[in-house]
Amino acid sequence: AAPTDYQAETATISQGVVESNHAGYTGTGFVNYDNLVGSYVEWTVTAPAGPADVTLRFANGTTATRPLDWTVNGVSGAVGITYPGTGAWTTWATKTVRLQLAAGSNKIRARATTADGGPNADKLTVNPVSDDTTPPT
Ligand code: GCU
Repeated sequence: AAPTDYQAETATISQGVVESNHAGYTGTGFVNYDNLVGSYVEWTVTAPAGPADVTLRFANGTTATRPLDWTVNGVSGAVGITYPGTGAWTTWATKTVRLQLAAGSNKIRARATTADGGPNADKLTVNPVSDDTTPPT
């Protein structure tokens, strides 16, 4: 299967708002995390069981790195992943974490861990590692 995109603006948002004032996003907008510890975006993702490469498209127009902790179905998957400044709020970058997913529906949450909140979040792209496997010849 191809990688699947999940927009941030249609995910579950706690302590953040959907905005569209910085160009370059996909879909209809992006999430501006509130500037506080604990704000999060949570995507519901359908996947096969096993590892998946999970890519966040983000922008950070400051010079301060904005870390996120990642959980899957409430279980820690990746801690302290850093989202550095991208130079402008209109400059979008990607960063990938590998997470272990369950078969079927998964709640993938990216939670801010500093008072700056998270980077602006455009979308998540989920690519199960099993999809990368080249069949033996
Ligand atoms: C600015 C910017 C927002 C961003 C915010 C922040 O207000 O316009 O898009 O989310 O800074 O620092 O988080």
